[in-house]
Amino acid sequence: MLQDKIKQLREEIQVLPQPTTEEEYESLRLKYISRKGALNEVISDFKSVPKEDKREIGILINELKQVTEEKFQTFRASLDQASESSRLLDLDLSRSAAQIPTGGRHPLNLVRDEIIRIFGHLGFSIAVGPEVEDDWHVFEALNFPPDHPARDMQDTFFVSHDPQVLLRTHTSSVQTRVMGEQEPPIRIICPGRVYRNEAVSARAHCFFHQVEALYIDEHVTFTDLRKVLLHFAHEMFGPETQIRLRPSYFPFTEPSAEMDISCNLCGGKGCSFCKHTGWVEILGCGMVHPNVLEACGIDSHHYTGFALGMGIERITNLKYTVDDLRLFSENDLRFLSQFQSEK
Ligand code: DAH
Repeated sequence: MLQDKIKQLREEIQVLPQPTTEEEYESLRLKYISRKGALNEVISDFKSVPKEDKREIGILINELKQVTEEKFQTFRASLDQASESSRLLDLDLSRSAAQIPTGGRHPLNLVRDEIIRIFGHLGFSIAVGPEVEDDWHVFEALNFPPDHPARDMQDTFFVSHDPQVLLRTHTSSVQTRVMGEQEPPIRIICPGRVYRNEAVSARAHCFFHQVEALYIDEHVTFTDLRKVLLHFAHEMFGPETQIRLRPSYFPFTEPSAEMDISCNLCGGKGCSFCKHTGWVEILGCGMVHPNVLEACGIDSHHYTGFALGMGIERITNLKYTVDDLRLFSENDLRFLSQFQSEK
């Protein structure tokens, strides 16, 4: 009897155990629900059921179909879930993660931080001042009288019609701010951006960066300055680097000097970079002029000090042989990404 066959099949399907492999599932699928499977066999038997029994048997077959469908859906779902968890188990959690590309640091910042590090070890702390400055801090207190020809050395951007307000042309202005506010001993390093009214080219820019250093205390001498400069050159450019000081002139220092280092490209033998002299200029320095100390309220009979100032672009050019200043401010990633920092 078809009823019995349906009942038996239904019971059989209801107690089928969960297949644990795709192969087991497949053989159950073939046996029960494929085109030639047991379920379809029952359905085709239905054709020969006498009319009066069709309703009752039809209901049984529908129930059987529903039970079978549910059963196979459960089988499928737990097989899928098992394969997902075994995929997760296959994960190698100790494998190192894919590298996320990080940005490089700007070469000027790398060099600035290196300068700060070197002077920091000598006890210099960082001081900052405003970029929009007044005439007194940039010129007047630094011993540039109003009609002093040294003012022509720096082409200044004025911020308004008032010639008292300007963009600082050097970070020496931070010296005068700190000296006006602090009692010696003063040992500071002042990194920052400065502005000059220059046409932009490979060799000049209307803004660039400087680091100024200032040391004021009792009995500070030129020898102290020389020692600090030598230490700086060795730390920045390597222990084989030599320095030489040439007499120079700045209104705010007396005596004043410019420092050259032995060319770090040719080791001092002479090359096109150092114009075959074996030396390259890197900074200006000197003993703080007594007029500057007095203008800032420091007793020049009691205290002495030295100051030095350098361009960060200049040091970076030497360290990384960059020969066009414009590269530093164009934000071209092809240039910048060459300076992936180790830190
Ligand atoms: N302020 C100078 C400039 O911008 C650089 C400089 C020279 C700073 C000599 C100093 C110094 O402190 O002693 O060109």
